[in-house]
Amino acid sequence: MPPRRRDRRSHRDPSPSPSRPSGPRASPSSPRLRLAFIVPPLLLLVLTVLHFTGLLSRSPPYPQTPGKTPLSVYDRGLVKRQVSAGEILAEHARVSENRSRRHFPNPVLAYVTPWNSKGYDMAKLFSMKLTHVSPVWYDLKSDRNKLSLEGQHNYDAGWVSELQNSGSLVVPRVVLEAFPGVVLLKKKSRDKTIELIVSECRDKGYDGVVLESWSRWAAYGVLDDPELRQLALQFVKQLGEALHSISSKSSTRNHLELIYVIPAPRMEGPNNQDFGPEDLLQLADSVGGFSLMTYDFSGPQNPGPSAPLKWIQYSLTTLLPAKGSASQVHSHMIFLGINFYGNDFLLSKGGGGGSITGRDFIHLLEKYKPSLQWDDKSSEHFFIYSDKGVRHAVFYPTLLSLSVRLDEAQDWGAGLSIWEIGQGLDYFFDVL
Ligand SMILES: *[C@@H]1O[C@H](CO)[C@@H](O)[C@H](O)[C@H]1NC(C)=O
Repeated sequence: MPPRRRDRRSHRDPSPSPSRPSGPRASPSSPRLRLAFIVPPLLLLVLTVLHFTGLLSRSPPYPQTPGKTPLSVYDRGLVKRQVSAGEILAEHARVSENRSRRHFPNPVLAYVTPWNSKGYDMAKLFSMKLTHVSPVWYDLKSDRNKLSLEGQHNYDAGWVSELQNSGSLVVPRVVLEAFPGVVLLKKKSRDKTIELIVSECRDKGYDGVVLESWSRWAAYGVLDDPELRQLALQFVKQLGEALHSISSKSSTRNHLELIYVIPAPRMEGPNNQDFGPEDLLQLADSVGGFSLMTYDFSGPQNPGPSAPLKWIQYSLTTLLPAKGSASQVHSHMIFLGINFYGNDFLLSKGGGGGSITGRDFIHLLEKYKPSLQWDDKSSEHFFIYSDKGVRHAVFYPTLLSLSVRLDEAQDWGAGLSIWEIGQGLDYFFDVL
């Protein structure tokens, strides 16, 4: 097993800023360990007793494996507007016992992060519903002119082959952290970058990779310079073609695949930073698909829904303009982004708050027994609660909000990309 960090700071990762690298971090527990040596023994004893009596634990023990029921969430009548905290608490940890029955027929790409170990288990448990699994393992870095691929220590041979044996393609995510000047300007370094990725795939028997580079290129100004922008797109094409020229080990029918991560278009209108329909057309013949990040619509400074349905529709229409046009043909290449995390925002003057996992959501439901409301405008559920005089708004996916988005993807003939499966509730897998 790879080291499993539980680092709450990182779970919104898909496009961290270059100043906040998402690579391996120092163990967050080390300062606490040091503290343990200076805490008086008596206090330690008291803390230990409190811990074992459960007074300090944040929530009751969370079941590791979901319970089973013969019926799906649809048959159980749980996919609806009128949901109560009590019903979610009673039902979230039970899933349909037939885990190979798919409700969503198109490809499903599931991200798994080392800092949310639950995702590793969920990927194995529901591999029949996941066509692609992307462990978030690699960073391609530059040190002066030297390029290196970091994250090999995350590789877990048993887990990868177990998934491949049950039919999922394993396509780890690689973030191109390297300084764009180093990667893009010289042919030799473009080739070297591609060689590093391709040889890691051969070495570990992966079925390809998911590449994230667009947000870095945007931050470094690459996309504002027409020549650099073209070099950047050429680089993605070259990587896609290099991977595609190799047959996959796990399934001889397939070639290695490149899935390219793209931001959702801004509602304020197009600019250089956007990945537009022409970019999509340019890459379409060389890559296997696009992981479209339709989440993180709101933030602590502008609390609100995670992914309003209208914004999702706008993103798809912008990228795949007129029905029947050339780009429309490519809608099957889109893996529509679906968040399995949510947000707990402060509604005070300065804003604040941030992302929460399913476990946090369950804890909030237990503690505040809030009443959930359906927001028609965004097609998401939310609730409001108060803590120490401060009001909070919580947006977290529900079976209905997921189901509505899955229908939208299906209408377009698109697949899904889920960020990330360790953060969801067990019964979310029933709608897949
Ligand atoms: C599970 O669902 C699949 C697809 O609907 C079906 O073919 C299979 O027979 C089911 N398995 C069981 C054990 O009911």
